[in-house]
Amino acid sequence: MGRTFSFFNQKGGVGKTTSVINVATVIAGLGKKVLLIDLDSQGNATSGVGIEKNENESTAYQLLVENTDPKASIKKTAIENLWIIPSNAHLAGAEMHLINQEKREFILKEQLKKVSNDYDYIFLDCPPSLGLISINALTSSGYIIIPLQCEYYALEGLGQLLNTYQLVKKNLSQDLELGGVILTMADVRTNLTQQVIEEVRNYFKEKAFQSVIPRSVKLSEAPSFGKPAVIYDPHNRGSVAYMELGKEFLVRFGSDEDRRIFSATEKTVAPEVIQGAQSAEATPAAEPAQTTQANS
Ligand SMILES: Nc1ncnc2c1ncn2[C@@H]1O[C@H](COP(=O)(O)OP(=O)(O)OP(=O)(O)O)[C@@H](O)[C@H]1O
Ligand SMILES: [Mg+2]
Repeated sequence: MGRTFSFFNQKGGVGKTTSVINVATVIAGLGKKVLLIDLDSQGNATSGVGIEKNENESTAYQLLVENTDPKASIKKTAIENLWIIPSNAHLAGAEMHLINQEKREFILKEQLKKVSNDYDYIFLDCPPSLGLISINALTSSGYIIIPLQCEYYALEGLGQLLNTYQLVKKNLSQDLELGGVILTMADVRTNLTQQVIEEVRNYFKEKAFQSVIPRSVKLSEAPSFGKPAVIYDPHNRGSVAYMELGKEFLVRFGSDEDRRIFSATEKTVAPEVIQGAQSAEATPAAEPAQTTQANS
């Protein structure tokens, strides 16, 4: 549980999936075994790492609703050290089934016990809601990671989010901790973004990660190539920021050795590390030539 992280914000479109995919890939690239679980019926994390949303396959739905062995749903991605439990539109009906189940808030937690020793990190991509699936994610996790979009309304809805976190912690899972806040889609040239960053840092103090993720076209177009941006275009500012974040993540949550290695060394994770994590089959035929320092 200590190594399981819910990327959670009930607000839609704040960068949960983009963050979880890229952080998971960076950490896998740095040699950790990572399991990503797509808990959103949109299946964006699934397609974002190049796995097809196949209607007939065993997915997070089977895991939650049919209580099938999680190992039956785990798929290897083309990225070394990264596995995924995919999702598809079926998951939209899961909440209805979960309501009638016994210990409905802990189904995922029980299921993950069967596989958690096989991975260094488990990352959960939560849906934009406060429903039972999100509650299952939170009770399975040691930490909640909150992506926050740098916009005027960034802090709106945060009260509700933190309230949910406190309720889950008090009533269902005392071990749950706030692991960190990721500032996403920052346009650092604007005063507004600077104000939001300042406000969030004042509020969350050291819980806010130092690496701020800028707005980047490359981050938003990578999913259409079925690749995390850190592989699709490792040199753009968005990818570099996620590489920094991945390192920061290991400094915060990793072993003493990780802390020693990743807190001191060079400024960025070498893009080669991430590219090295990619096996040959990850390259779709239609991929355009990579541009370095392109639009970011
Ligand atoms: N730093 C960024 N720069 C530009 N576009 C971004 C950035 N981060 C995310 N996006 C884009 O913004 C949209 C929302 O991002 P994402 O899907 O990661 O958010 P989400 O919180 O998972 O959304 P949902 O709540 O729908 O699951 C996507 O189209 C994504 O490609
Ligand atoms: Mg998402």
